[in-house]
Amino acid sequence: YKRVTTKSVVEMKANGEKISMLTAYDYTFAKLLDSAGIDVLLVGDSASNVMAGHETTLPITLDQMIYHASSVIRGVTRALVVVDLPFGTYQSDPKKALRSATRIMKESGAHAIKLEGGKEEAESIRRIVNAGIPVMGHLGLTPQSIHQFGSFALRAKEEAEAQKLKEDAKLLEQLGCFAIVLEKIPAKLAEEVAKSVRIPIIGIGAGSAVDGQVLVMHDMLGMSNEFHPKFLRKYANLQEIINEAVTHYIQDVKAVEFPNENEQY
Ligand code: KIV
Ligand code: NA
Repeated sequence: YKRVTTKSVVEMKANGEKISMLTAYDYTFAKLLDSAGIDVLLVGDSASNVMAGHETTLPITLDQMIYHASSVIRGVTRALVVVDLPFGTYQSDPKKALRSATRIMKESGAHAIKLEGGKEEAESIRRIVNAGIPVMGHLGLTPQSIHQFGSFALRAKEEAEAQKLKEDAKLLEQLGCFAIVLEKIPAKLAEEVAKSVRIPIIGIGAGSAVDGQVLVMHDMLGMSNEFHPKFLRKYANLQEIINEAVTHYIQDVKAVEFPNENEQY
């Protein structure tokens, strides 16, 4: 195997090779996704939703993100591992941002961090990059701002927000970000942004004319029935498979059909 690096994903864009990215939060799944050949694993703060059951990404802490990240790192031999800076550990405070990013790198062994926002976070990004820590940007629907947005609806429909997003993407590239996630924006706008920068644009709900795609693992494996936005494709129905397996196990236990003669000492 050859390790995926922040440099190699930029080369992939230059060579026209699309980048595959999924979220992971634990050792076992990280190992499965890495062996399947995923390019990038994101230890997303979506762990707050799918791991902890919160309604938003806001409650998850830096310590919890570091726990998830170090578990993922132990399962990976090839993928690039990127970790979200959680809400309240960087916004509007560049020194705090560097401290948080440093903790993640030092305590988990991750390869890069991701944070949400454009111009507002310029000083934080500059500091983190200057410290030798690779940064992935995140624009469009940035879930840590959900209470400002009021809903998880499509972003940058209006010209003013679209214009700011285009400027922010250019700025993130200038600041030294190695890639940017664009979440839930019109495909046409995402295409325009992808063409305007040399760093890879990874889309989620941003169409196909970008440099790669990311999905939340639990969503694309069909582990729940409750979340089905238009942009989500379910590649498996694990909810059904797990339900069948567990139902069968319960039946066997109740009927004393498990364990059998060969399954005991
Ligand atoms: O936390 C997350 O899962 C993310 C992706 C959806 C990009 O930020
Ligand atoms: Na996130």
